[in-house]
Amino acid sequence: MSRISAEPSPQSLSRTRARGFSLLPPAGEGGGAPARPDEGSAKRAFILANTGLTEPPLVPEVKLRLADEAVPIWTRTEEELGAMGLPPPFWAFAWAGGQALARYVLDNPDLVRERRVLDFASGSGLVAIAAALAGSSCVEASDIDAFAAAAIGINAADNGVSVAARLADLIDVDEGWDVVLAGDIAYEKEMAEAATRWLAALVARGATVLIGDPRRTYLAADRLECVIEYRVPVTRELEDSEIKRTGVFRFR
Ligand SMILES: C[S@@+](CC[C@H](N)C(=O)[O-])C[C@H]1O[C@@H](n2cnc3c(N)ncnc32)[C@H](O)[C@@H]1O
Repeated sequence: MSRISAEPSPQSLSRTRARGFSLLPPAGEGGGAPARPDEGSAKRAFILANTGLTEPPLVPEVKLRLADEAVPIWTRTEEELGAMGLPPPFWAFAWAGGQALARYVLDNPDLVRERRVLDFASGSGLVAIAAALAGSSCVEASDIDAFAAAAIGINAADNGVSVAARLADLIDVDEGWDVVLAGDIAYEKEMAEAATRWLAALVARGATVLIGDPRRTYLAADRLECVIEYRVPVTRELEDSEIKRTGVFRFR
């Protein structure tokens, strides 16, 4: 696993391999275009074959299809698609920010109960599933990775909840969500800055925005008020330690 550096991840995960990694989706997969049905079932089959049903340590009431190690599943994803330079399999891990935010939502269900919720950059769907379990009236989960969209569907079904997976970049979109949740999105400058501008606009029109983050490099700390902090067990392969102090922040 020498391709994973000791820097904090997912920042390091996204920069680990020196072959032009980009967070942008492969051509034709962005912008909310629905995947063809056969592509969706191939992705579901891939996820089922390459992950195990796991409980994230801080959120044991949620079960997720997760991987033990990053590089093997990343390599297999590229083999599956016959493409190189694909985004890391973020969806195959429960990141520190997502675990903290999901814990907070489950412990404070009034934040989302009977409210329309978007889990932005959802990855595995962990935070969206927590919101659905906590009683949200409608939960959407967005990601730009088609594998994430497929994983969200599988994981929501495994937890017996309804979550609408959206394969789309919703930055600068406002569909009237009451609450926007975002776990671990501050690891890349461009995305973090664009998301911060967008989330500020949503807060200005009255939305509640909550962020879960272990204070990664591009966290907009000046816009955030920390409401709680957790010690989140994480994978040493992905992070620089086995525990990450992780905050849940209210965007102001
Ligand atoms: C570090 S993962 C966090 C996943 C999950 N929220 C968690 O905490 O476990 C970041 C996720 O952001 C997604 N992402 C990056 N840019 C995005 C964008 N513009 N819109 C939606 N998702 C995005 C990636 O595909 C990835 O799944």
